[in-house]
Amino acid sequence: MKVSVIGGSGYIGLVTGIGLASLGISVICADINISKIQGLNEDRLPIHEEGLSPLLAKAKRKKKIVFTTSLSSAIKQSNIIFIAVGTPLSPNGEADMSQVLSALRTIAEHMETPKTIVIKSTVPVGTHKLAHEIIKKHLKNKNLTYDLVSNPEFLREGSAVKDFLSPDRIVIGSDSKKAIKRLECLYKTFSVPKVITDPTSAEMIKYACNAYLATRLSFINEMSEICEKMDASILNVIEGMKYDKRIGGHYLNPGPGFGGPCLNKDLQSLIRFSTSHGANTEMLQSVITRNNRQIDRIIEYIIHNLKSKSFPSNPKITILGLSFKANTNDTRNSPTLKLLQSLKKINVKISVYDPVVKKLPDTLSTLVHHASNPYSAVENSSLCILMTEWDEFKSMDLQSIYNLMAQPHILDTRNILSHEMANQIGFYYKATGCKESTPNEIFENSNMPVIPRSYRKVM
Ligand code: UDX
Repeated sequence: MKVSVIGGSGYIGLVTGIGLASLGISVICADINISKIQGLNEDRLPIHEEGLSPLLAKAKRKKKIVFTTSLSSAIKQSNIIFIAVGTPLSPNGEADMSQVLSALRTIAEHMETPKTIVIKSTVPVGTHKLAHEIIKKHLKNKNLTYDLVSNPEFLREGSAVKDFLSPDRIVIGSDSKKAIKRLECLYKTFSVPKVITDPTSAEMIKYACNAYLATRLSFINEMSEICEKMDASILNVIEGMKYDKRIGGHYLNPGPGFGGPCLNKDLQSLIRFSTSHGANTEMLQSVITRNNRQIDRIIEYIIHNLKSKSFPSNPKITILGLSFKANTNDTRNSPTLKLLQSLKKINVKISVYDPVVKKLPDTLSTLVHHASNPYSAVENSSLCILMTEWDEFKSMDLQSIYNLMAQPHILDTRNILSHEMANQIGFYYKATGCKESTPNEIFENSNMPVIPRSYRKVM
């Protein structure tokens, strides 16, 4: 069994290719991106993903993986071809299918023996019908047979290797029994539920999962705002919810809103094709509206503090975390980038720090100063906003942060710091879904003998 992966230098293609190779399957990762393929041939990974580098080294050592820019030779040499190219969001909210369609055409034009074609890219429901049309139209030898499979991925950035090696389930959607057997054989080492279904349902499963996850996040983010208004703590509320077996505590952390290349894109695409088929998507639309509100709330908080607290007229604000979540260098659709975009309109100096992201798009890079660590980032700052839940931020020396800041004020959008510790040191501390605590208030309620530094006025 020989597998090729088209889009093999992209996020999903690379993890899938390296993952399959680590199981002992011969894999060809093919991609038209010359620099990424060249880098991979020289052992340079284009993404920051835990555990991927040793897996690649192992696959190369065992001669189970090759990287090439020749799609045609990859197609000719393999009997299972994965399509794992991107389906980015078009300006009109649809998934841009050009790379998928081009991959299907290329396969049809170059195949010389029967193939099993597996669509791993997230594609609008019903795409397999279009895929059949394209393959049939472009097949050079019309007598050649092929099977089509929808095999959606559920990899999370930052834990993609773990997710690949221990998936919760594997979804295989096809009208061909032979192709289903072949995929079951490919994935035989995984003793997890295999959901065998029709291709339309397989395509829909991916959208339903991402829509549900996004809904859960918008729900908890809305609960957080309500908690703040009612003087309740979202952390205590989650504690009381999570033991309910119907709910659980996972994927329920409030924050600056969901980002990344998938949830928002898939929701928009789902709304777009569902409404064009006459379905009502009112609830899904409000999930997006709620998500956008999370950044507005941070801006409202900053403006409120600029007006009511003794910030200097052009204060320095520090933002910690640029990637859309921890353990990835991906800034696509990152809440921090949205925040920076909005901050352009406000008269503030901005310093940023991220453990792995050292560069921002040109439109934003002129606006910010990149610090080399969190401590130099907060120097003389009037507000420190924690945007990403990197471990490095969880273990910061808060006393040093306090000493370095012009005004000891933290907005912890991810609830990653110890409220108690921040309180003891004397920060003005605000976490999503919790009431803001001011040093005086805290010390009245604390028996810790710490004298808080006064809220210094810096002009
Ligand atoms: C998601 C899906 O989880 C994955 O199955 C799919 O294949 C691709 O899209 P990913 O975008 O990599 O994966 O990350 P995920 O961990 O789902 O986080 C998405 C966003 O939600 C991030 O911005 C993250 O910070 C945010 N999030 C997640 C929260 O705000 N709170 C949480 O509890 C979990």
